[in-house]
Parts: sequence; C-alpha cells; structure tokens
Amino acid sequence: MEVARRLVPEFIEKLVPYRPGKPIEEVQRELGIQQVVKLASNENPLGVSSEVPPAILEAMASIHRYPDAGGLVLRRAIADKYCTTVENVILGSGSEGIMGNIARTFLHDDDEALTSEGTFVGFHIIVRSQGIKVRTVPLRKYSFDLGRIAEAVSPKTKIIYLANPNNPTGTIFDHAAFESFIGQVPPHVLVLADEAYFEYTRRSEVFPDSMTYRYDNVITLRTFSKAYGLAGLRLGYGLAHESLISHLLKVKLPFEPNSLAQAAGLAALKDQDFVEKTVALNEREKDGMYEALEKMGLNFVPSHTNFVLIEMGDEKIVDRISSELLASGVVIRPLRSFGLPTCFRITIGLPAENDFLIERLREAVS
Ligand SMILES: Cc1ncc(COP(=O)(O)O)c(C=O)c1O
Repeated sequence: MEVARRLVPEFIEKLVPYRPGKPIEEVQRELGIQQVVKLASNENPLGVSSEVPPAILEAMASIHRYPDAGGLVLRRAIADKYCTTVENVILGSGSEGIMGNIARTFLHDDDEALTSEGTFVGFHIIVRSQGIKVRTVPLRKYSFDLGRIAEAVSPKTKIIYLANPNNPTGTIFDHAAFESFIGQVPPHVLVLADEAYFEYTRRSEVFPDSMTYRYDNVITLRTFSKAYGLAGLRLGYGLAHESLISHLLKVKLPFEPNSLAQAAGLAALKDQDFVEKTVALNEREKDGMYEALEKMGLNFVPSHTNFVLIEMGDEKIVDRISSELLASGVVIRPLRSFGLPTCFRITIGLPAENDFLIERLREAVS
C-alpha cells in the first residue's frame, strides 16, 4: 500500500518477519487432525514445575495492579543464585525482550552488529528493525568460528552476538576458544552471550559459562522458556556489570515482565529438581533419537541442547519431508530462514512423541 510504503523506513520494508513453529491448534484446524506433535520450538515437553501453577493463581489476585516495576524479588533470587547483586540483573519479556532492550540502549547511527551465519534469527530481526547492519561470518563445522568473528571486528562493531549453545545447530564453543576470543575483542565492544540452553549444557566440562568470567563488556542472557518450561509467559534475564544494567534499566519498558511471569519465575527457580528431571529426560531421549537417526542413515549434528539438527544435503528433500511430517501430524522446523536450507531441526519431546516422530520420519525418508 502506497501510504504504508511512504511511512515505513526502507529497512523495515525489507525486513523478513520471524516465522515461529506452527501452533498445535493451527495445525489441527488446517489439517482436520487431532493428534499433533509439535517438535518445532525447543519447548519443555514436561510442562512446568508443580510449584508454578499455585504461584500464578496467587498472583492472579493482584492482576488489576501494575507489576513490581523493579522486579526486585525475582531479581534478588536470580542474583543470589549467581552470587551477584540485584544491580547486576535485568528482567525482560523473554530473553528476546532483553535483546530488544539492549539494541535500543546501545545501537545507533552507523554502529554495526557482528555474529555468525546460521544462528538465532531473532537477533537479526531485532537489530535490523532499528536500521542497524548485521555482519556475519560463516559457521565452521556447524559451530561459531570465534577466530573469524574476532578478525571481523571493525571500528563500527558495537555488539557481537554469540549463542552458546547455538540454535539451530546445538553446538558449543569451549573455554579455550572463548578466552582467546575475549582476549582479541576491544573492551568497548559489547559481547552478548546468549545462553538460552545453559541448563542443558552446564555440566559439560568444556562449556564456558560466561558468568564465571565476569568480564565488564559481556552481557549474559538466559531464559525461563526452555528448561523451566515458561515459554508462554515470556520471561528472561540478563546478567552484566552494574553500569551496563543501569543503562538498560533506563530504556526497559517499566512493567515487563508481567506479574504472573514474575511470580512463576520465582516459583520455577526454587524447583531445581524439575530442571534436573527435564535435563535427564532430554539426555535419555536424545540418545534414543541419535540411535534412530543413525539407523535411518541420516546425518545429524551432536547437540548440547534439547534439539537436533539434521543435514539432508538438499533443500527439496527438506521441503518434502517437512510437508509429509506435517501432513501426518508432526511439526518440525525447516531451517531455510536460519540460512541452512538443506537442514531441519527436531526438538526432543516426550518418549511417545519422539517415537511418533521417528516412525513418521522413517516413512518419509524411505
Ligand atoms: C538461542 C536463543 N536465544 C533466545 C531465544 C528466545 O528465548 P525467549 O523465549 O527467552 O525469548 C531462543 C528461542 O528459541 C533461542 O533459541
């Protein structure tokens, strides 16, 4: 429409919107089938801790009031967990909400962001929607190539985005790679360490938990959407030096996250047994998934997360398999929008869901 075209900046007109995995209800409606298994969005198949629903019910009594704008109770609980202070913690509507906050706070004019190809598309959209350029370097064996990213830093680079583990490849970079990288990055460049899948990999000896380093130019992002199972409530948190957090707090929308999310997050954080159960189930089921994929002769990338990337070597095969799976009630994630058109991604679900997927996938590839 001509009016909209004249109103909207060119960088918004050119923006390709984020396409999330199809919701179960939409697939049921479109295909007229009841049994739908969604393994497309890396959600927690176990649901949430039993501590969460009562906490939400209690918080419901006050939803006519604005939430605690400082989010102090939850921020304090997170600060205690990481042996830091409230001033080092920020909350947001999902970790994506905080990414938006970071982009609004720090990026302007000719600044550029730098990251890898084949990573979380949400970051690209947030940054580009402000007219900021994102430069990328290629993945190396499905992993972030930190050496090349460090080499690509220019005087315009303001933020470097690292997803560790990476979505959609499930790979991590290790301590040595991270330490060598940080040593090369100028201290005035912000490093955004997106650790959305931290809980799935925190026990790995090679995983460089960015919070153990406490660098002044690193912001760590984590989320309640994955191992804590609160994706629908939109709750994430960031950890960084208090001076960075103080600027983010000026720009943050004052009343996010909402009060139900804050109450749920507090209850979820207290139930670490649920997180352990989630991770243990994921490990068991992931092993079963690897075995089934090997039997089918499919190439996959071993994953440090709750999902697995499968490389088919051909876009048309990916399209055919994802359509056939969808028609039989399984939603997976083709990765064209992530820049990996010959791959798809499967979230690890409950045993019965994984069995259902494996059966349908076997039919589709045979
Ligand atoms: C690497 C990564 N970062 C961030 C997010 C967004 O998480 P949230 O639900 O906390 O916004 C996702 C979601 O899939 C992700 O994979």
